[in-house]
Parts: sequence; C-alpha cells; structure tokens
Amino acid sequence: MPHYRAVGQIPRKRHTQFRKPDGGLYAEELMGVEGFSSDSALLYHTGLPTAIVEAQVWELPAGRTRPNHPLLPRHLRTHKLGAGPADAVGGRQLLLANNDVRISYVVADTPSPLYRNAVGDECVYVESGRATVQTAFGALEVGAGDYVVLPTSTTHRWVPAGPGDRAPAEAEPLRLLVVEASGHIGPPRRYLTPKGQFNEFAPYCERDLRAPAEPLLVEGANVEVLVRHRGGGTAFTYATHPFDVVGWDGYVFPYTFNADDFEPRAGRYHLPPPAHQTFQGPNFVICSFVPRKFDYHPLSIPAPYNHANVDSDELLFYVGGDFMSRKGAGIELGSISLHPSGFTHGPQPGSVEASIGKDATDELAVMIDTFRPLEFGEAAFACEDTSYAWTWAGGHGGPDSTSG
Ligand SMILES: [Fe+2]
Repeated sequence: MPHYRAVGQIPRKRHTQFRKPDGGLYAEELMGVEGFSSDSALLYHTGLPTAIVEAQVWELPAGRTRPNHPLLPRHLRTHKLGAGPADAVGGRQLLLANNDVRISYVVADTPSPLYRNAVGDECVYVESGRATVQTAFGALEVGAGDYVVLPTSTTHRWVPAGPGDRAPAEAEPLRLLVVEASGHIGPPRRYLTPKGQFNEFAPYCERDLRAPAEPLLVEGANVEVLVRHRGGGTAFTYATHPFDVVGWDGYVFPYTFNADDFEPRAGRYHLPPPAHQTFQGPNFVICSFVPRKFDYHPLSIPAPYNHANVDSDELLFYVGGDFMSRKGAGIELGSISLHPSGFTHGPQPGSVEASIGKDATDELAVMIDTFRPLEFGEAAFACEDTSYAWTWAGGHGGPDSTSG
C-alpha cells in the first residue's frame, strides 16, 4: 500500500509501553516486508501473537500442473466447474500456475477457516456475490468487481453473504478468481510519486481504495489458523484468537479496489494493455478492461491488432458485458482465454471490420500477463473448451474489443 493508515488505539510512540485497562501490556507485533527495511505495520494484540499450543500438517489441495504442450491457445469455462459446498480457501480449484503465481477459481458458500498465506500476497477478484473478509486488521465488505489485496501473512477468513443477506441484484453466488503471488502485489510503480502518492497520470488514487476502518475483536481460545508456507501447509492452534488487535498503523494492510473505479484511457487509435494496468506482482501484471469509449481517429480500428507478446502468457477473464466480441469462439461470462508466448493471437475473423465505427464497449475483463509460461492445473482440463484453438481458421467473427 502506498499510504499511511492508522486504525483503533495505538500509543503515542512506537515500541513503548501501551497498557490495557487492567494495567497489563498489549503485545506489539511488527509485520514488515523485506525484514526491517521496508514497509510495515505495527499491530497491538490483547494476547500473545506467538502463543501456539499445537502445530499439525495441513495437507494442501493437490497442486499438480502440466505444461501447455503441444502449445495451444486455450479457453477455460469456469462456470462449468463443479460448485458443491465449498469455502473460499479450501475450495480453490487450481487452473494455471508457474513459480511466480497460482491462479484458482472458487465458488464459495460457506465461511472459510482462518487462514494466512505466508508465501506471498493474494489478490482475489470478486466476479459475483458478496462477502465479508475478516482480518486481523479489521473487516472488509466486498462485492462484484472488487480486487481484494491481502498482504503476505495476513490472517483472515472469507464469510460469504447468505442469500437472505443479498439484495436481489446480488443474488449470484460468491465467485472468486484467486491470484496467489510468490511475492508482493501493488500498484504499478509508474503510477506513484517518489514519496508513494498516486500521481496525476494514475487511473485510480487513494480515494478509490477501501481498507479496514475499525478493529475487529473476537474472543476465543485454542483457535486454529491454516498457514500456507514455502514448505507446505501447517495448521497452528493459538491460545487466543488472532482477531484481538485493538489498533494498528503503517503501510501494510489489506484493501480493496473496485474495477468500476478504474478510469479508462482512450486514444486516437488502439491503446495497448499497459494503459489498463491495475497492479503489478513478481513477474506478472494485472489489468482491468472496463467499459470505455473507443478510439476516435477517423480511420481508427477499435479491435486490437494481431500481436505476439514474445515474453508473456496472456490470460483474460471475461466477467461482464456482451461478448458478442468473440462470437463463434465460445467465449461466455466466466470464460478464461489463454494466449501463450509462442502463439500470435488477435481478433476472431471478421472482428476487425465489425469493430469499425463502434464508439464504446460495455465489456469488463481482467487480464493477467505472466512473464514465465503458465502450466495447467487439474481444474483447467475439467472445464476446457478444446475447440477454441481452431476458431481463427473456422471463419468465426465478431468485434474483438477486450483482447489486449
Ligand atoms: Fe492480447
């Protein structure tokens, strides 16, 4: 996070005595990235954040992957995945992964266990539904279009809103695209001033971010927390509940950003995907293609040109609007297309001509470009539309406006 935030009670000076009403000391915890040398948060716990009473192996869901071989453009239909009773952590179905990032899909209808990811930050895109994300920093109310950024080692749990808690317009279940990084996720560096403020060229700013506003205090004893770490999974049991933070401050905390708050750019002719970049992570970027005006050169072609991104695999997750753009290619709501390095991709036949004269699009899509090849998890094969690779040769058409 690029800016300072303080929530709840904190002492006047850091690392000094801070006492509870009963006279005992609160337990201070520094949660810092890059050791003690970079951004951090200082949290004040009622109990000891170190007091574990048990540790057991937590068997992580299978993470086997297979390479994209023979090399093909792929189409995954996430809404075809089984959606039985699941929580937002244990129910993750691995679609794509490499050593930098893992991308999963989950339809969640039950509260998750308490959980933290010690390997890296998570950025969870909410495709539909509503949930409360309870964290040691406080709670976040999230809904469709939200990117939920959870810093490394943030203890949290997902609590989906029940059908009775959702407005009719929010009747869809909680559908999440989960991006687990091997490092830290944040705004692109070029959007920030040397002091870390969003600059005037950034497509969003501090006012568009939402973060916990008050402490979340929960009492409990012998509380289990699942930890994903570099060696696997471990279930810790804590003597006291980890949601016992009366106050915190710093630059590291969970937050949300909604794609509706991304201010899109338009040019006289087609702008490349970096104009839509929203976040950066280790060896990957996340972009938001939001409803926007098209190009306005008198001879402009709104559809993208064919392109060979020689250094990256390109994933597009189609989540809103009308996808007549890839008519004939089978793309639908919840679809993911993967256009890998080594394959030149572009609009479906007929799309270029069909796009001419259009002045706007209502499509919404999330793009993830990785700079190392993505491999496929079991869930990818379970929902793959194997006809997609041949659609460019099949005479299919339609204006293509979301494909970067
Ligand atoms: Fe592209």
